[in-house]
Amino acid sequence: MSVLKGKKILLGVTAGIAAYKTAHLVRLFIKAGAEIQVVMTPASKDFVTPLTLSTLSKNPVHSTFYEKNEENELWNNHVDLGLWANYMLIAPATANTLSKMTHGTVDNLLLAVYLSAKCPVYFAPAMDLDMFKHQSTTDNISKLQEFGNLLIPAASGELASGLVGEGRMAEPEDIVSFMENDILEKLPLKGRKVLLTAGPTYEAIDPVRFIGNHSSGKMGFELASRAAELGAEVILVSGPTSQTIKHSLVKRVDVVSAEEMYEAVFSYYDNVDIAIAAAAVADYTPVNKAKQKIKKKEGNLPIELKATKDILAAMGNSKKEQFLVGFALETNDEVANAKGKLARKNLDLIVLNSLNDKGAAFGGDTNKICVIDASNNIAEYSLKSKEEVASDIFSEILKRTDV
Ligand code: CTP
Repeated sequence: MSVLKGKKILLGVTAGIAAYKTAHLVRLFIKAGAEIQVVMTPASKDFVTPLTLSTLSKNPVHSTFYEKNEENELWNNHVDLGLWANYMLIAPATANTLSKMTHGTVDNLLLAVYLSAKCPVYFAPAMDLDMFKHQSTTDNISKLQEFGNLLIPAASGELASGLVGEGRMAEPEDIVSFMENDILEKLPLKGRKVLLTAGPTYEAIDPVRFIGNHSSGKMGFELASRAAELGAEVILVSGPTSQTIKHSLVKRVDVVSAEEMYEAVFSYYDNVDIAIAAAAVADYTPVNKAKQKIKKKEGNLPIELKATKDILAAMGNSKKEQFLVGFALETNDEVANAKGKLARKNLDLIVLNSLNDKGAAFGGDTNKICVIDASNNIAEYSLKSKEEVASDIFSEILKRTDV
């Protein structure tokens, strides 16, 4: 899966012959799962049509400060476009545009968007050899890099003029891989290991029956996805669940009982940077598991239960450098109970769900959390999708770790 999946990319096209390649570039971004909007300089429309790029990007193309329809003139808000994007890419970036970007000249919409963009800006120069080698171009490129813009180096080869040398825009495939690699390299959890528990546990009564709970595993799986998106290597120890996850950075370890979850967790725990216990582990398990299916009889059937090991408390006990996060599902005295758990289990952070909050129950797609850290700082969040909640939890973790 590409790191660009779900990302918003603003492609700025300027007037170089390589602009024709942006049609292919847009297709590659769409294939990678990105959302694309295109901003063109007026002169670039001589090289590739807005219709081509709007069709391929599935979005209207912007090239002027305002657009006219029969009754109205509508302002193209360059600030909004700049804020919309996760990444901006200017490709091809001509010598003229590089110069204007360096000096803050704004004589078209693309330059206004560039100046207002808050996101990382990549630029892929494209021009003739002599223009590319000219001191002014070299200086402009250096200056733009000093500003924090990211250069996608020009390639060498045959140029439109017939000259052979440096100045060709990098090929669309190379532009996409350059951005993917650069983004991956800079992910905040790159090179870090995250251990997660998720789902319920099933405690066997006999070969066909068990004691379980209604945990769907969704929250834990969303956390695993988010951790991988942030670049971490993830070990997801999961109880029985219908959830699926497909990410090259996620290793899923399936377990059934609390005891198996404990064993699996402790075969990884020593080597991880962050551990999050999102599983709904059974607190009790039958003392004896019948070898054969228990037959129906007259009267009651007593089942003797013993306490399971508290996996999270055990992680807290043997904690070294790991940042440890637990969950608390409470019905009353929520904050006080959660703070108690945080201290008892030696956690760095606890995520509190209250069963009194609508939409925060087991199995749903939403959750409402409150996060408490070891210094008793409390952050309350509104009702959100579990995907957004996973992202919020990692923001809270990243604020408190130097990983
Ligand atoms: N947990 C665990 N192993 C257990 C029980 C719980 O790892 N055997 C973890 C859960 O994954 C969760 C946290 O501990 O992160 C809180 O679990 P909870 O059952 O709410 O807390 P308890 O300490 O068991 O207290 P109580 O059941 O009394 O609320």
